[in-house]
Amino acid sequence: MFRPHSVTIMSASLEQLVTLAAADFAAATEPAQLEDAKARYLGKDGSLTTQLKALGKLPPDERKTAGAAINLAKQAVESALTARRDALQSAKLNAQLAAEALDITLPGRGTERGTIHPVMRTLDRIEQLFRSIGFSVADGPEIETDWHNFTALNTPEKHPARSMHDTFYLLGNDGKPHEDVLLRTHTSPVQIRAMLAHTEKYKDAAAIPELRIICPGRVYRVDSDATHSPMFHQVEGLWVGKNVSFADLKGVVADFLRSFFESDDLKVRFRPSFFPFTEPSAEIDVAFMSGALEGRWLEIAGCGMVHPNVLRCGGFDPEKYTGFAFGMGPDRLTMLRYGINDLRLFFDGDLRFLAQFH
Ligand code: DAH
Repeated sequence: MFRPHSVTIMSASLEQLVTLAAADFAAATEPAQLEDAKARYLGKDGSLTTQLKALGKLPPDERKTAGAAINLAKQAVESALTARRDALQSAKLNAQLAAEALDITLPGRGTERGTIHPVMRTLDRIEQLFRSIGFSVADGPEIETDWHNFTALNTPEKHPARSMHDTFYLLGNDGKPHEDVLLRTHTSPVQIRAMLAHTEKYKDAAAIPELRIICPGRVYRVDSDATHSPMFHQVEGLWVGKNVSFADLKGVVADFLRSFFESDDLKVRFRPSFFPFTEPSAEIDVAFMSGALEGRWLEIAGCGMVHPNVLRCGGFDPEKYTGFAFGMGPDRLTMLRYGINDLRLFFDGDLRFLAQFH
């Protein structure tokens, strides 16, 4: 019986073929080389493929065993191929890992924990104390209009605070100071903004609920020495309602100061003064009964009963509503609380100073 040559040597040659393929794959050091080698065995004209195609020419009784043998050989070649592929891939990965290695045993640079600025601590504390007696915290822009900063606060047109020696005006497009836009010189304009935002919500002018706010923030003045900085902080307070009196003002402020300084024998006095936006007006002084500053009166805030013109600008009818306001210096309060004698320390950014406030 006729047997094609290829078939008679099939078994022996298949084994050889598998060995040959495995050696060929092992010799490939690049994925592209490996794919070329694969084509020689499993490709369209690869030797195993050719043998599979030749199966058809075999007598039917031999076809089955020969086919099984070829398939076995094909599986062996395929698994050699996969093994080599995996090996090449992990070699590549290892090489990459080695090249990009990080030495994780090096000590880190370390990040130091920051501290809260002493003035910010004071502001947090003030907010907390006032919130506890029903005040909410309001906010306003640092770039303010002349109307909010002065006019609506009943400040006369020729008032010295409006001069360029005292107030930072913004420059217009022509390079000249813009008369209407300035850096707010106090937090008092927030009184106007807060009153307007509040009163605008109510149609009946006699049925507006009371308003109780404080506003902490930065303010700016043309001023610089050991006790003045061109930028400093203020906290504005405002309580408008029916029958709000100067007695309420005294009670709220004195209670606040005693809580703030954690001292029951702190003396607080209200000294008559003048502000355009309040009538009557007063300065608030405190005196400690012990420590380095014992018995010395220190000025810490201005205050008064809100002027009728100011109430009107805020949308309140001064015939029906009264209110008190105050503006205090949290920088000063911080200096007193921590015994700091130079205001500039707050704004120099010197870590030796700031790191002491844990
Ligand atoms: N705005 C004043 C200032 O900067 C401080 C002040 C005084 C605020 C009296 C007030 C007030 O609300 O009633 O010097």
